Amino acid sequence: MKILSVETSCDETGISILEVTGSKNPTFKVLANSLNSQIKIHSPYGGVFPALAKREHLKNLPILLERTLKKANLTLSPTPAKKRIDLIAVTSGPGLEPALWTGIVFAKELAKKWSASRRIPLVPVNHMEGHILSVFAKDKKEFQIDKLNFPILSLLVSGGHTELVLMKDFRKYKIIGETLDDAAGEAYDKVARMLLLPYPGGPEISRLANQARRSSIPLLRGGSLARRGGKFIHLPLKGTPQEENFKLPRPMLYTKNFDFSFSGLKTAVLYLIRDLQKENPNILQNEKIKSEIACEFENAVVETLVYKTKKAIEKYNVKTLIVAGGVSANKHLKKEMQKMTKELRGKSSLKRPCLSVLFPSKKLSGDNSIMIGIAGYFKYLKNNKKTTRAGNIKAEGGLRL
Ligand code: KG4
Ligand code: ZN
Repeated sequence: MKILSVETSCDETGISILEVTGSKNPTFKVLANSLNSQIKIHSPYGGVFPALAKREHLKNLPILLERTLKKANLTLSPTPAKKRIDLIAVTSGPGLEPALWTGIVFAKELAKKWSASRRIPLVPVNHMEGHILSVFAKDKKEFQIDKLNFPILSLLVSGGHTELVLMKDFRKYKIIGETLDDAAGEAYDKVARMLLLPYPGGPEISRLANQARRSSIPLLRGGSLARRGGKFIHLPLKGTPQEENFKLPRPMLYTKNFDFSFSGLKTAVLYLIRDLQKENPNILQNEKIKSEIACEFENAVVETLVYKTKKAIEKYNVKTLIVAGGVSANKHLKKEMQKMTKELRGKSSLKRPCLSVLFPSKKLSGDNSIMIGIAGYFKYLKNNKKTTRAGNIKAEGGLRL
C-alpha cells in the first residue's frame, strides 16, 4: 500500500510517499520525502507569522507534490494499480489553523481527483501522535508492535508543546503533564531573540551553550539546587567567578504534578540581561557572556525536563521513554536523558532493567510528513479502514491527544 502524507501545521511544508507492507508488524519504506522550510521567511519576525506560513504552503504544496511523485516514480494521475496512491494522511492539528487548512484542502482535492476509479481514503492525523511515532520511522525495518515495552512515556518538546504523554497500550494516550505557559522550544526561541540570535533559537542557544561547556574557564558550571526560604535556588560550584550574576530558576521543579512552566525562566533571563546591561550596555556583544547565559538557560530547561520525566518514569513504572519533537534534537537534553535512564536501569531494586530511551533521527525530530504517514496508517488500521468523511475533516489548532 502506498501512503501520501501532507504536513503543514507550522512553518514546514512536507509531502512524502511511504510504501507499507504488513499490518501486524508493518514495514515502512520511504519512497520519496520532500520538505520545504520557511525559516528564512519567518526569521526577521523572530517567530512564525501565520499569514505568511499559509501563503508559503499554498505556493509550495503543488511544487512539492510534483517533485515527490516524480521521486517515487508515480504520476499525477496514479490510476494503474502499481502507480496508485492508496491512502492520504494529512495533519489536522494541533498547529496554526490557517496553515493546517492549506494542507487539509490540498489533501481533500487530491483524494477527490484520484478517486475517479477507486475511492482513496483520507485520514486526519494528530501532529503530536506523529512526533511520538517518529522514533519508529526506521526505513526498511519492521515496526514491531508486539515487541514494544509498555508503559511508554513520551516527552514531547517542540515549539508549541511540552507534554508528558503516557501510553499504556498502543495508541492509547493520556497527557499526564504539560506546560502551563510557554513550550520549551518557544522559550528557546524567545531567549534567543533576547540574546540577538536568529530564529529558530534552539540550535543557536545550544551551539553557544556547548561552547560555554567546552570553555576552559567555567563561569558557571555544575552546582546544585538548595532550598532557601521556601524557594529553590541554584548554587554554583565553589569558587566560580561571577556566580551571583547567572542564577536562573528551575521552574516548578518540586511541584507534585508533572506540569511545566517556562515563562518565568524566560522573564528571569530578560531581567538578567537588563541588569547586566546596566553595568555594560554592550554586554550582548560579548560572546562569552552570551554563551554563559545560553548555557545556564539550557541547563535550567534540561534539568527541569529530566527531573519531571524521571519522576513520571518512577511513578508509572515506565519501560520505554520516547523523547520527540524539535527540541529532542538538543544534544545536552539527549545526553542528560540517557544519563538519567542509565542511572534508573542501574537501580536493580526498582526492577526496571529494561527501561529504554528512544529519540527520532535528527532528520525526523523537527516537523516532517513521514511521521504523519506512519501515524495515518495506524489510525486507518485501528478504525478498521473506515475513514472520516472528507467533508468532516477540519483544522483544529488546539487538537489534543
Ligand atoms: O517540532 P518542531 O520542529 O515544530 C513544532 O511542532 O513546534 O519544533 C521546533 C522547535 C523550535 O522552537 C526550535 O527552536 C526547537 O524546536 N529546536 C531546538 C533545537 N532544534 C530545534 N531546541 C533546542 N535545541 C535544538 N537543537
Ligand atoms: Zn512539531
